[in-house]
Amino acid sequence: MTATVSIARSVPKSANAVGVPVATSGTVPRSLGLSRAALAAHGFEGKAGQTLVLPSATGATLVAVGVGDPSALSMQVLRNAAAALVRAASRHAVVATSLADLDGVDAVKAGQAVAEGGLLAAYRYAGIKKEPNTTSLTELVLVAGEKRSKGVTSGVDRGVATSAAAYLARDLANTPPAHMNARNIADKAVEVAAASGLTVEVFNKDQLAAMGCGGMLGVNRGSTEPPRMVRLTYTPRNPVGHLALVGKGVMFDSGGLSLKPSDGQIGMKMDMSGAAAVLAAMGSLKALKCKAKVTGYLMCTDNMPSGSALKLGDVLTFRNGKTAEIHNTDAEGRLVLADGLSLAVEDGPDAVVDIATLTGACMVALGMKMAGVVGNDQPLVDRLRTASSTTDEPIWQMPLEKSYRKLLDSNVADMRNIGGPYGGVITSSLFLSEFVGDVPWAHLDIAGPMSVDADDGWLSRGATGFGTRLLIEFATSFTK
Ligand code: BES
Ligand code: MN
Ligand code: ZN
Repeated sequence: MTATVSIARSVPKSANAVGVPVATSGTVPRSLGLSRAALAAHGFEGKAGQTLVLPSATGATLVAVGVGDPSALSMQVLRNAAAALVRAASRHAVVATSLADLDGVDAVKAGQAVAEGGLLAAYRYAGIKKEPNTTSLTELVLVAGEKRSKGVTSGVDRGVATSAAAYLARDLANTPPAHMNARNIADKAVEVAAASGLTVEVFNKDQLAAMGCGGMLGVNRGSTEPPRMVRLTYTPRNPVGHLALVGKGVMFDSGGLSLKPSDGQIGMKMDMSGAAAVLAAMGSLKALKCKAKVTGYLMCTDNMPSGSALKLGDVLTFRNGKTAEIHNTDAEGRLVLADGLSLAVEDGPDAVVDIATLTGACMVALGMKMAGVVGNDQPLVDRLRTASSTTDEPIWQMPLEKSYRKLLDSNVADMRNIGGPYGGVITSSLFLSEFVGDVPWAHLDIAGPMSVDADDGWLSRGATGFGTRLLIEFATSFTK
């Protein structure tokens, strides 16, 4: 991260721009030097996310930042407001604001939300360019009174950690496929583990074969790049529970022999966004004093067509002994997750969550702004929904409709790897559920929100890192 976040009692002289929160009712802060009527005359009513830049001949630029209904302040409002401020002040290096000083949101939560909003909006993928993409922001200063400053400071620490994790997930997914293959992400995982107190084990093709991970090997068959499975473990003293996370790490999804049309392949470097979210989230657990043991599995391989590629009609045998007949090689995510989920439940965790850019069907159903969630345990799904509303990474539950299981029936194997034209989220989830036994399990389908085409609040163009902060929030509040 290029920008830092600091806390001050008053606006520092170094500030180039100063954000001033304004609600839709109540008094307008005197520091703006304008009445509500004057602001309204310039089209600014204080609505959440609105900004009005007020040039100044002498001092710092003032930015009126709308926070909406003063009785409805929330982390979401503050995160969006901070993002709007950073975007409105995008040419400035040092941006100060008293946004985290508003009563109505707990100081810790306010500090976290404002740090996240500001930092996430300042994210740019550097790119592989002679002149890398950059951001002007070097410092975000949160001005907070004596009463709140301690709470704000601790919230900022958390917000900086969660944002750094989201930056990592975004960078991993934005990196072109030739620069981010299965070996590359495994190397990255080793680095992250060393820096953040995780144990890491990397499994190569031979080891995966010895372990019976037929899904991983099958999907990898058409690729000249070898696969990698990475197991990360975070073990606190006296863990309060054990959580397992499994991420789809398809480093590039061409579709295999069921080749995607060219347009459908654009963006498929991001088909490892689930693995990126798991890796990034796990890298922050120690700093955030997570009390549960967490095991993470990154299931990494390309999905490519070639003379050695997986064929339609082939049957794969997964780690748990079940088999699947391949009817579409583009339904590959479930094949690598099948091995990952099988391994994850062998450790006897209290819950398993997988995260994957799994289906176009989920995008059709829910659009690009929210992920689908499906599970075999309602309390677990509800905990994920709670975490999701805290981090503002929206998820919507879809049913695990058992009567659709026959859509996966096969004459030659335990199941087929696709259901049919309808209910793709449900049939893909039913497939995954075959590998978790009785362990409480939930599946996040992040195909839609994995990327955005244009900057939008705290989402910056490109990979979003969706799910990273959600997994952190979920893991750090997890108990058996
Ligand atoms: N990685 C894709 C899903 C995807 C599509 C993610 C677009 C993000 C953006 C997945 O592997 C896939 O190809 N799914 C198929 C499954 C189908 C063949 C049953 C799909 O959704 O079309
Ligand atoms: Mn696919
Ligand atoms: Zn895929």
